[in-house]
This record gives sequence, structure tokens and C-alpha cells, in this order.
Amino acid sequence: MERNDANGIGGETATNGLPPRVSVVEVGPRDGLQSEPVWVPTEEKIGIVNGLIDSGIRHLEVTSFVSPRAVPQMRDAAEVLAGIDRSKGAVLTALVPNVKGAERAAAAELDAMVVFVSASESHNAKNVNRSIAESLEGFREICRIAEGAGMQIFGAIATSFGCPFEGDVPVQRVVDIALAYRDMGITKLSLGDTTGMATPPLVRERCRALARHVPEADIALHFHNTRGVGLVCAYAGLEEGITSYESSLGGLGGCPFAPKATGNICTEDLVYMLDECGIESGVSLEGVVEMSRRAEKLVGHPLPGQVMKAGRRLDLHALDAVATACG
Ligand code: COA
Ligand code: ZN
Repeated sequence: MERNDANGIGGETATNGLPPRVSVVEVGPRDGLQSEPVWVPTEEKIGIVNGLIDSGIRHLEVTSFVSPRAVPQMRDAAEVLAGIDRSKGAVLTALVPNVKGAERAAAAELDAMVVFVSASESHNAKNVNRSIAESLEGFREICRIAEGAGMQIFGAIATSFGCPFEGDVPVQRVVDIALAYRDMGITKLSLGDTTGMATPPLVRERCRALARHVPEADIALHFHNTRGVGLVCAYAGLEEGITSYESSLGGLGGCPFAPKATGNICTEDLVYMLDECGIESGVSLEGVVEMSRRAEKLVGHPLPGQVMKAGRRLDLHALDAVATACG
């Protein structure tokens, strides 16, 4: 396969109102692996994270300090973090559900704890066995622990675009949680679309509501491709000026506590789209694809990523490699 980008048609520059540069946040090692039934050895997890850092990714959600009974795949959280190459200055984060998780995280090689709450009561109950109010109340102590450990704290809002048990989630609910986070001093927020219920109009509505009511918030978008519109939603986010996107290598992923949850938007497919739109991410598509192929072997089933199978649009094929139709 030869590569031909001489005509440059795909090299549109970001003069179309989209941000010139965005940050790709890799969540595959956490969101991707958490629902995989096959144990991925600690050394392999470390190898993939280090490979992704080598590919240019500078922000990764590496693991979670949750109950090992709830999510056995994440039981090696501290060991994984201890093995990661810190020389390139990548920001490493991990999910923290409660005080016990925060105490474990505070002792680990971590830059930021990510607390999380769902915008719908039923998903929050399934996911962390408590009400939204109880989750938010518990974050105050986690903030104190993070501060004591010199770590930053970020906030995630799961089911921000819909809940698999309750349906539509009012935009005001998302705004109220963002305000509660802001009142705790947490302004780096991620809107999670846990089961792929986002659509471009919902993305526009939620981004605009947050820009209006919580202007301090620095928003990242976290989509799943459950209904095939994950990247379209990311594009809607770009049109709203959002500059941070969470994605998973190969499109791995899915929440074990939500029915029919499937993979995140795929990192290399996202990078491909950004490249073709002339938006800088600093990430090597080829480097990520290499890690996705490795991850595919480890989990033992095909991953949904598409560019890892098809290559770039101008990766050309030899004419005589394909049969000619006749008759
Ligand atoms: N790390 C390790 N162990 C933990 C823990 C943590 N963060 N939090 C609780 N535990 C242990 C407790 O020590 C206790 O163990 P024991 O039975 O041996 O004494 C047991 O788990 C139950 O503790 P409890 O506080 O009653 O928790 P719970 O059963 O109400 O579960 C969570 C609450 C939050 C710990 C659990 O639901 C969880 O880990 N959820 C994570 C979900 C997730 O990762 N979702 C994906 C993100 S979208
Ligand atoms: Zn997710």
C-alpha cells in the first residue's frame, strides 16, 4: 500500500471556524478495558499506555481506584501507574468513586483524581450505589485528600446526554451538577455520554447552556459510538469551540453498569478526522493504530475502530491486487 497525498485535498486548514488545535484524551486503558472479561496483564497495560504517550498523547485516564469486586480489571491501578514513563510530561488521571479510592489514589503516581457522578439518579445508583446528592457530598472529602496529596481534581458527569433507565436527562440537571462542581473548586469537567445517547442538537444545547451558566468550566466531551454518531457528536462539539475530546484506542470500551453500553469513539478515527480537518492534535495516527492492534490481540476480539482496518483515504492499493469484474 502506497501513500499519496500530493493533491492535498484532505489537508483543509482549520479556517472554517473550528478550533485550530485540540487535546485528545485517551481513556481506553480505563473506560476501554474496564468491561473486558479477559484479564490484561499489568505489564501489557503499561506497554500500551507508554506506546500511546510515544504517539503524542499527553493526557490519559489510565485506570480507576474503584472496588475490585465491582471492576476486577482495574485492581492493579497503582501498579499500572507506577510503570508509566513520566519523562514526556503526560498528565495521568484515574477515576475515584469514594474516600477509600481517594486514599489509594493519593499514594499512587497520579496527577489528577477524576470524581464522577451521573446526571440521572438511577444510573448513579447502579454505578456507585448512592444518590447524586450523596456522591456530591462525598467529593468534598475527596477534594481535601487530593489537595493534601498535591493532586488536581477533575469532575465527570455521566449520562449527560441521556440515561438508559430514565431516558432524556434535562439540561438543567447537567448545569446544576456543573455548578455544584464549581462550588467545590472543580472546573475541569467532562460530559460523559455513557451509552451513546448524544446527538448533535443535544451537544449544541448542552455546550451552550454550560458556556452561559458555568463560564468557568473547561469542558471535555466523552462520547460512545453506540448508535454510530459518536464522531458526528465530536464534530458538533468542535463547532461549539470545545477543544478536548475523550476517546479510546480501537474504540474499546463500555460501562459494565449500563445496558448495551459499547465502545468510546475511537482514538485513531478521531485523530484521522482531526488531521483531515487541519486540526492539530499532536498525535501520530500510525502510533495509535499500532497500539490498537496490540490491544485487539490482548482482549481477543476485533475492535470497532475503522481507520485501523481501512488506513487513510490516500493509502492507495496496487491495481493488480484486486480482481476485475467481468461479464
Ligand atoms: N477501592 C477498593 N475497595 C473498595 C473501594 C475502593 N475505592 N470502595 C469500597 N471498597 C470495598 C470496601 O472496602 C468493601 O470491602 P469489604 O466488603 O471487603 O469490606 C466493599 O468494597 C464494599 O464497600 P462499600 O463502601 O459498601 O461500597 P459499595 O458496595 O456501596 O460500592 C463503590 C460502592 C463506589 C465502591 C462501587 O460501586 C464501585 O466501585 N463502583 C465503580 C463503578 C465504576 O467504576 N463504574 C465505571 C465508571 S462509569
Ligand atoms: Zn465512557
